[in-house]
Amino acid sequence: MESNAVTLLLLAQNYNLMPMLSEPVIHIRDLSFQPLFSEQEVQQRVQELGAALTQSHARKNPLFISILSGAFVFASDLIRAFDADCEIGFVKLSSYQGTRSSGDVQTVMGLEKDLMGRHLIVVEDIVDTGRTLHFFLHHLAQQQPASVTTVAFLRKPEAVEFQVPVEHVGFDIENKFVVGYGLDYDGLGRNIPGVYQLIESERVRG
Ligand code: IMP
Repeated sequence: MESNAVTLLLLAQNYNLMPMLSEPVIHIRDLSFQPLFSEQEVQQRVQELGAALTQSHARKNPLFISILSGAFVFASDLIRAFDADCEIGFVKLSSYQGTRSSGDVQTVMGLEKDLMGRHLIVVEDIVDTGRTLHFFLHHLAQQQPASVTTVAFLRKPEAVEFQVPVEHVGFDIENKFVVGYGLDYDGLGRNIPGVYQLIESERVRG
């Protein structure tokens, strides 16, 4: 190996850049995406969020409510980072098609549990315009829970149109489309363990 390459490799190891160097640009259908957060960065942040929620919600037997489909990966890691009794339920809402929000949110599949007097932790994959959470939090308030805490894995502060309380945010990101860790582009990319951001100038086909 050339000495320059060895120096670069040692520097990368020193500054923990190895995951980014080993994750190249990916292509999903006609779009290209570059790495934003590695699997290790995601997992570390989820552990931190789990620890914070354990502090605030231990002995409250909270009910985590995961908004399907995007939040199921995050929710599954988050409840395992929560170190006390808890329950989980799922609600299906819809608001997105392709890379653009499609308008009104509609409940497709509801929660069957009685929420009155419960401590709820709403788990969302990403707050984009905030429309989904705005709608859902309003819906929950009518069920008289003891408390409602919201956790979003990602948030795009520049895109927010509906001001919603989000007590815990994994990462604030630029207003660009992302995939991975449960987030999809036309159904694909949910199984990618890290997060990738759209490269806006590039189109693979068409
Ligand atoms: P909002 O109602 O505009 O906040 O959008 C919420 C939903 O849109 C999220 O739960 C996601 O399912 C989807 N969404 C928003 N931004 C992205 C993105 O960058 N990638 C994938 N899905 C997204």
